[in-house]
Amino acid sequence: MSAQGQIRRTTAKDIADRKGLAPIVSLTAYTAPAAAVVDEVCDFILVGDSVGMVVHGLDSTVPVTLDIMILHGQAVMRGSKRALVVVDMPFGFYEESREQAFRNAARLMRETGCGAVKLEGGARMAETIRFLVERGVPVMGHIGLTPQMVNVLGGFKAQGRARAEWEPILADARALDEAGAFAIVVEAVAEPLAVEITRAVRAPTIGIGASAQCDGQILVLDDMLGLTERSPKFVKRYGALGEEFRKAVASYAEEVKARRFPAPEHGYAMRKE
Ligand code: KIV
Repeated sequence: MSAQGQIRRTTAKDIADRKGLAPIVSLTAYTAPAAAVVDEVCDFILVGDSVGMVVHGLDSTVPVTLDIMILHGQAVMRGSKRALVVVDMPFGFYEESREQAFRNAARLMRETGCGAVKLEGGARMAETIRFLVERGVPVMGHIGLTPQMVNVLGGFKAQGRARAEWEPILADARALDEAGAFAIVVEAVAEPLAVEITRAVRAPTIGIGASAQCDGQILVLDDMLGLTERSPKFVKRYGALGEEFRKAVASYAEEVKARRFPAPEHGYAMRKE
């Protein structure tokens, strides 16, 4: 709470300062009502470009645009009050040059009011991250499995499961840390590598399919609620909302067909004249 009784939003600096302290809790959200619920427990909310697959039915995150991210970022900002909101930079809107990255990150921040952006990539993105941070854009990094690279990787595959693969991934983590990323998402890597990365960097690591020893965890909300049909091995389903959803719409359809809905209590009687 601020002196004026307003709720103070968590900042990127607050998250950076959590290294080695209580685990950082985060989830994705794409809509205002979902943001309102996760805001009660999350330190930060990620408006992930996974929105393309989860909400818009795309096969990958590659076709997601900046306008899509802005629309969902605005909704999540409206729904939340206290968590830091981080919005993903979509594929094709930051890789070309650091100037392109700054222009689009600034637009994301200006039009959504979010407190930070996330972008994918290791050492190759370090110079861009430094450029953004030096100009006032807090950046969360994302290494290991980077879904925007799906067409180069040939699928969504766990990384670092052989020792020989560790060094480049560790070098990526160190490069982002040096460049000033305030936190680093580590996705789908072998557990001991995630532990090693967490030890090697000053920035808090946010694991997803990584290790309980990371400084925090994130999951895609719809996956953990059991709303998505299929989800990666690293997802624990904390609910079965997909089944509830199906049951509810089936009951509605049955009652409409049987003229049991609407019942008298759902309608309007005439006023007494
Ligand atoms: O887009 C997303 O939801 C993400 C998380 C999986 C970290 O990047």
